Amino acid sequence: MRRTLSVAVLGGLLAVSALAGCSKDGGTEGGGGDDGKIVLGFSQVGAESGWRTANTESIKASAKAAGIELQFSDAQGKQENQIADIRGFITQKVDVIAFSPVVTSGWDAVLKDAKDAGIPVILTDRAVDSTDTSLYESFIGSDFKVEGQKAGEWLAKEYAGKTGDVNIVELQGTTGSAPAIDRQTGFADAIKSNPNLKIVKTQTGDFKRADGKTVMETFLQSVPKIDVLYAHNDDMGLGAIEAIKAAGKKPGTDIKIITVDAVKDGMTALAAGEINYIVECSPLLGDQLMETVKAVKAGKPVEKRILTKEGTFTQEEAKAALPTRKY
Ligand code: AHR
Repeated sequence: MRRTLSVAVLGGLLAVSALAGCSKDGGTEGGGGDDGKIVLGFSQVGAESGWRTANTESIKASAKAAGIELQFSDAQGKQENQIADIRGFITQKVDVIAFSPVVTSGWDAVLKDAKDAGIPVILTDRAVDSTDTSLYESFIGSDFKVEGQKAGEWLAKEYAGKTGDVNIVELQGTTGSAPAIDRQTGFADAIKSNPNLKIVKTQTGDFKRADGKTVMETFLQSVPKIDVLYAHNDDMGLGAIEAIKAAGKKPGTDIKIITVDAVKDGMTALAAGEINYIVECSPLLGDQLMETVKAVKAGKPVEKRILTKEGTFTQEEAKAALPTRKY
C-alpha cells in the first residue's frame, strides 16, 4: 500500500511519496547535524475525523512557525504503519520523534529501539500502556477519562429526580485506543450511582462518521426505546443523527445526544438543537508539541505529562462560541 510522507521544509512544502515503512530512508537525510535545525518525525493516526484533520493542521502550522523541519507520515489507522514510520525515522536519524498512538499497547520494542538510538520520543494526544515511562520524554494531550466523566455528570444531572429507566446506547471510538477506553470508563463511573441510567448497547464506530451511522442503524433496529446516545466523538454522533432522522425520529429531542470533541460540525449541530451537550477535546496541540521538541533537543527538563485545557458546551454556549471557533 502506498502512503505519503510529507516533508515540510521551513517556508515551503515538499511532498515526497514513499512505500509504507520501507523507502523513507531513501528520502531527506534527518537531523543529528550541528546546523541548529531540528528535524521532527511525526506519525499521525490517520484522517478518521474532523478532530484529526484539525490536529494535523495544527501540527503542520506550528512546525512551520517554529522553524522545525517536519517529516509527517499518515499511518492510515494502522499500528503496523506507525511502527514502520518510527523505524524509518530512527534510520533517518531525525532529532525527535513524536506520534499519536493508534492503540495503547504494543509499543515497547519500537520505543526501546528509539531510546537505544538516542532519539527522544514525545507522545501526543493518546497514551501508551508501557510501564517503562523512560521510553518517552513527555505525553501531551487531554484527560480522556475526565471527558467521559463530564459527559456522564451532565446526563446524571439531566435525569436527576426522574424515575423510570433511561436507555443509553454508546458509540465507542477505535477499539483499544486510549480515548475509547477512558471515555467509556469515565462515563460509566459518573452514572453508576444512578441505577435508572442503563447502557443497553455499546459498540465501536471507529471514530468515523460512516460507521457511526451504520452502528446507530443497528441500534435503532434492535432497541425499541432509545433515550440517549453517548458518542465518543462528534463525527460518530453526526453519522448517528443521519440514522435517527432516517428512522423518523428527531435528534436532540426524541433521543438526547452527548458527544466529545467540539469541532465545527459538531458545534453547528449542537447550536441547531440536534446534539444536547458536547465535551471539548482540543486538537490544537501543535504549539505545545513544538515547544517541547525544542526543550528536549536543548536538553532542558520537560513535564512528563502536559495536560490540555478544555471545557464543555451546552446548546446556548455553542451558539455563542461558533462565530469565533477555530476548528
Ligand atoms: O484521540 C482523539 C480522538 O481521536 C478524537 O476525539 C477523535 O475524534 C479522534 O479520531
